Amino acid sequence: MGLSFWEDPYPVYKNFQKRSSVYWDDMLEVWVVTGRNAVNSVLRSPEVSSDWLRLNAGQSAARDFPELERMLLGWFMLMDPPGHTRLRRTMQSFFARTRVESLADAFRDVVAAQLELLRPLDSVDVANDFATPVASGVLARVLDVPVDVISTAAVHMGAIASFLAFPHKRDFAAQAADAVGRLDDLYRVLAPDLSPDSALFPLAGDDPTAAEDTYLHTAHLLSFAGQETTAGLIATGLLHLLSAPDLYKEVAAGQAEPEAVVEELLRFDTPVPQVPRVAVSDLTVDGHTIRAGDRMLVLLAAANRDWQNSADADGLDFTGNRRHMAFGVGVHYCLGAPIARRAAQTAISQWTAAFPAARLSPETVRWAVGTGYRRLESALVRPS
Ligand code: HEM
Repeated sequence: MGLSFWEDPYPVYKNFQKRSSVYWDDMLEVWVVTGRNAVNSVLRSPEVSSDWLRLNAGQSAARDFPELERMLLGWFMLMDPPGHTRLRRTMQSFFARTRVESLADAFRDVVAAQLELLRPLDSVDVANDFATPVASGVLARVLDVPVDVISTAAVHMGAIASFLAFPHKRDFAAQAADAVGRLDDLYRVLAPDLSPDSALFPLAGDDPTAAEDTYLHTAHLLSFAGQETTAGLIATGLLHLLSAPDLYKEVAAGQAEPEAVVEELLRFDTPVPQVPRVAVSDLTVDGHTIRAGDRMLVLLAAANRDWQNSADADGLDFTGNRRHMAFGVGVHYCLGAPIARRAAQTAISQWTAAFPAARLSPETVRWAVGTGYRRLESALVRPS
């Protein structure tokens, strides 16, 4: 894929969707699922698996790195029921809407403290100076751990994310395995002192060593799933607003509901553009027969634009209340969705209120290349 794909993948997704809502790609050797109904039915189907070994037919380069393979086998995002259900339930109450509401003031403080640091600057990188530290601060409050643990974990997660994007590459697997060792060290020392307010507390238990693997693997999963995604939503969201000055002014003046703004940004530029799946038995999707063992690339980002049914799919509209599947669908629906929503609403409304005259320097915009999620690497802004 050329650089332009990573800057704006949507023309490519549009062509995929135009071709078919579901089609077999000979080069990638996967079914590409792009249509709104097709994505919905694949992700809800009991014939479809998220199991790590099934997804890779046991052929990923992680086979040679037992600590990496063990971690991925321990991520409930990469499990099927009933193992998935059991682990997810352990955590559920810490991610419920009411618990997230109780953290709203803490999220506001995280954002306010970051904005204070930025106020005196002439130029601010919206990704590295704002979105990333805010996402780390928020996750640190949810897990009730020091923020430097989260930011250090985020650095190591880069290697794991690269490996997951290219699971056949041995050198990526080696780097990811090294990262797992460092993450283990990072979270192991925290276990004995976790407070009952930490989402990780139920896994550490009274005797942290008894459940160490489950505790460590889930801590890594939450760092992986929660940090870059939330940072991506805040950074790309602000970038799109700054690129549309009239909309930016509207949001800064409080004329658009923060909830509506964030939902539309999730639809417009989906932070996790795709999720992988594999068929465990034959199934039919939009008239196509997908055979047991066939792999699928489920394009949430394409389904969210829904060009087939929406005349204005490529425009931002904060009044339309348009639906999206940015947090997935079905049993693996994002556990952290209420956190991500609240964090992004807080970050975007406080940033725009603090910097109503902010201006983007378009020539400084850089997108990350070769990642499985949408990541703005940097973009400089004159705050006032
Ligand atoms: C904008 C931010 C976020 C986006 C766009 C996002 C997106 C997603 C998506 C699409 C899935 C489904 C994966 C699949 O079907 O295979 C997912 C799952 C998950 N997310 Fe998020 N996520 C975000 C933030 C968070 C946060 C803040 C946390 C936790 C602190 C989190 C934790 C999880 C977990 C644990 C799963 C696995 C759920 C399961 O397998 O049952 N996410 N997320």
